[in-house]
Amino acid sequence: MNGEIRQYDYVVVGSGVAGLMFALKASRHGSVVIVTKKSSVESSTNYAQGGIASVTSDEDSFDLHVRDTLKAGAGLCREDSVRSIVQEGPARIQELIELGIRFSEREVPGHPGARELDLGREGGHSKRRILHAQDMTGREIERALLAAAHAEEQITILEDHIAVDLITSAKLGRPGPNRCLGVYVLEKAAAAVHTYAARAVILATGGCGKVYLYTTNPDIATGDGVAMAWRAGVPVANMEFIQFHPTCLYHPKAKSFLISEAVRGEGAVLRALDGREFMEGQHELKSLAPRDVVARAIDAEMKRSGSDHVSLDITHKPAPFIIRRFPNIYRTCLEYGLDITKEPIPVVPAAHYQCGGVVTDLDGRTALPGLFAIGEVACTGLHGANRLASNSLLEAVVGAHRAAASLERDRPEADRTLVPRWESGDAQDPDELVVIAHLWDEIRRLMWDYVGIVRTTRRLRRAQTRIKNILEEIQEYYWDFVVTADLLELRNIATVADLIVRCATARPESRGLHYTLDHPEPDPAWAQRDTVLTPER
Ligand code: FAD
Ligand code: SIN
Repeated sequence: MNGEIRQYDYVVVGSGVAGLMFALKASRHGSVVIVTKKSSVESSTNYAQGGIASVTSDEDSFDLHVRDTLKAGAGLCREDSVRSIVQEGPARIQELIELGIRFSEREVPGHPGARELDLGREGGHSKRRILHAQDMTGREIERALLAAAHAEEQITILEDHIAVDLITSAKLGRPGPNRCLGVYVLEKAAAAVHTYAARAVILATGGCGKVYLYTTNPDIATGDGVAMAWRAGVPVANMEFIQFHPTCLYHPKAKSFLISEAVRGEGAVLRALDGREFMEGQHELKSLAPRDVVARAIDAEMKRSGSDHVSLDITHKPAPFIIRRFPNIYRTCLEYGLDITKEPIPVVPAAHYQCGGVVTDLDGRTALPGLFAIGEVACTGLHGANRLASNSLLEAVVGAHRAAASLERDRPEADRTLVPRWESGDAQDPDELVVIAHLWDEIRRLMWDYVGIVRTTRRLRRAQTRIKNILEEIQEYYWDFVVTADLLELRNIATVADLIVRCATARPESRGLHYTLDHPEPDPAWAQRDTVLTPER
């Protein structure tokens, strides 16, 4: 069904930390609509456990945070981006606190009654610098930001509205330089596609963990922003660098439950099923080594021993400490019959974070005027070949602030010419939904088996051939039937899978999160070279 035409200054796609922070700031100079495809709280942000990295202690420094980020990024971070985001951290943290986010505190040692921020530690960090709200940091951030957004008159939040595609002047065949004019959005309940016209569209759609069979990500993480930007002709980079989190709970009934790296930060050790600390001798930081190293070591241990998981052991710490510091993890594991104060936690690696994405500058500007991308969907140069833990929430709040500030400064003109309604032509109701369900499963298994933690050229080639066929099948289906959320997401995960494979194939070396047995070492000729893909016109 064709919907209505609606006009706002800014259309934000996504209600995670990036979208909400942007909306709160941009509402000071314009009307904002946030479209979000499920309930507004449902986002990766809401499940963030460990916390947000920023320099807030006298024992830490910007130089150290920059150094740790560059080291994890394996030669591919843009140092100017890293320095600038790290240095802006304390100002953005202060704003989060003013917005009502309650980070965990502790008593200052030797000063009874005095309180200070309780800083956590995670893999690859040389100092304690992670601000957290127990082990539910994301939930606390979403709570406070959503409350602030609901109180703001200039912000409209539309749940169960899924963005379909960007509207560009080139797609409409208009003369002059190409620009983004708005976005088509499916209102699920009404089965109507509305036209949202705006001065600027802000993609804050998060990552793409659902491209893989096993992931820590919630169901919303289907790479929609990357796929939409790609279809609109915008360059995408570094998609081969998918971060696998080493410790997702391994339990038949648990779907995507993360065991925070902060648990290792507080002393938990990884063990093989025979009790051996297999990270000994693999890296100086052992169980707290950067994620790429730990995930590969777990993968190797599982392949060597034939086991389907390894163990994470924190039982040597006092039970009251574990329960106070990790109440959510403790409670959730207990619901699955596992007392983490008494027994090791079965864990496996799972797809967790998309380090690449839509290419942007530090203000979130993409190559398409009028289109911005912020948060996990964007590739700003901060993460390079491997993200340092807890740097993504930081990147999202800094990106949101800068995008809003730059739009206030530049205030792009709204296009006054009519943006057309969505045309569904003679599309029919889908006849065989099994096709959609089958292709969803096929892509996710294919990516897990062929484009996972350890890759080979041959497997990448196999994946590429299969994904090409799948994309053709989806394309046929897309034009014949009316759009549904499942079909839109399927098209997007297939597009993103294709981009991941293309980027992985284009990098003939191993670096950070991209590890291939055919080129097991980094190649200095590839240092500082992003894998940038530009859509054909
Ligand atoms: P999200 O928070 O993922 O929000 C995306 C939003 O876009 C959602 O509202 C979604 O519904 C919406 N959306 C997507 N597509 C569409 C569409 N087509 N139409 C409409 N709406 C759409 N990072 C850290 O720094 N520290 C941590 O401790 C940490 N822990 C994590 C734990 C878990 C379990 C996970 C999964 C991630 C964790 N991360 C952590 C990563 C971090 O949470 C994310 O990178 C960050 O929250 C992304 O924020 P975002 O606003 O970019 O996207
Ligand atoms: C975690 O708590 O382990 C997740 C941290 C992150 O992904 O940055």
